Amino acid sequence: MHAVSERSLRATLTELEPDAVRAAAGGVIVVRSPGRVNLIGEHTDYNDGFVLPAAIDLEIRICFVPTDDRRVELTRLDSHERQGFDLEAIGSPREEWIDYVAGVAQALAEGGIRMRGLRGVIASDLPIASGLSSSAALELGAAWALTAERPPPLDAMQLALVGQRAENRYIGVRSGLMDQFAVAFGEPCAALLLDCRSRQHEVVPLPLELARLVVCDSGAPRDLATSAYNERREQCELAVAQLQAAGESVSSLRDVDLDMLERHGPRLDPVARSRAQHVVAENERVLATVAALRQRDLPAVGRLFAESHASLRDLYEVSSAELDALVEIAQATPGVIGARMTGAGFGGCTVNLVAPDAVERFREAIARDYPHRSGREAKVYAVTPAAGVGLVAP
Ligand code: GLA
Repeated sequence: MHAVSERSLRATLTELEPDAVRAAAGGVIVVRSPGRVNLIGEHTDYNDGFVLPAAIDLEIRICFVPTDDRRVELTRLDSHERQGFDLEAIGSPREEWIDYVAGVAQALAEGGIRMRGLRGVIASDLPIASGLSSSAALELGAAWALTAERPPPLDAMQLALVGQRAENRYIGVRSGLMDQFAVAFGEPCAALLLDCRSRQHEVVPLPLELARLVVCDSGAPRDLATSAYNERREQCELAVAQLQAAGESVSSLRDVDLDMLERHGPRLDPVARSRAQHVVAENERVLATVAALRQRDLPAVGRLFAESHASLRDLYEVSSAELDALVEIAQATPGVIGARMTGAGFGGCTVNLVAPDAVERFREAIARDYPHRSGREAKVYAVTPAAGVGLVAP
């Protein structure tokens, strides 16, 4: 539906890199790497909890040829901006989009994985830096491109972990595994229930004939996202440390329940306690959502979405006036089954389950009401769960 034209990618690569294309014995390779939307289970992944994301049909594409030198050079199809680095001297982050590729190269090098240089063109219909995991999409697409083997010499979980390592060590965001996992394992028409402790997952088919997946991008900048994200993670770690100090044998918030939080309430830092309350209840909501989806009980899913949003707003404090406005508009629109902020928060997107015949009405409601509530325009995307990262057939 949204796919970037493969023909223009190939034509641009041939135009920009004629020598490399001519020399490439195996021909031009195109990798597609999807974004993700999380249905529920927010800020639970780095607490060993449960998440329920889906890869979506908005994606990044990398069209490339492997080279025999050690240079990695990528050009953006839209702006023709070219960025690159040397595999023998990856260097530190430059605060540019190429950092996600360089971070993956670093992580692969640390894992002793063989890489080749490349010349490529990159394009995206996935909105960048909007909370739909454009960074994880670029990381996993880059891992496929840098190893230049089909498929890469790593399984999907190892690939996801390489992407997470790039994000944690090179980019400096202490994120969990959800985004890279979703990009690696995506399934058409389904969400994925991941247990972040065991790293086992289950495919959860979605009743798409009853509920479309609609994403609204608030258009708000996410400036403080990294520092505020890392701070939330520290607050969760503080809650665990204080419970341990109080004699509980817990190693993460996964081991905690609401009774335990209640019992130790006065001994816990109040902010850390609120964060922990969110995480503990959110884990339960993920499992309840999966059960409700399996029973096709969409009103129950809608209630769980509403509770999740309220908890992220009030206990975890990662929503924003814009995200709250989008959710409130959604909740007041007939045919919207559920609405909540999705991803890290601090700006970014909401995820909505919408009856198929109400999608247009929902678009109109957002276009009418959001600008005067927020002073911004929202972008609305009806998305479909898609397969994870892989090659586009030649
Ligand atoms: C970001 C991170 C994920 C996860 C979410 C919040 O997307 O990359 O690991 O923590 O925020 O659920």
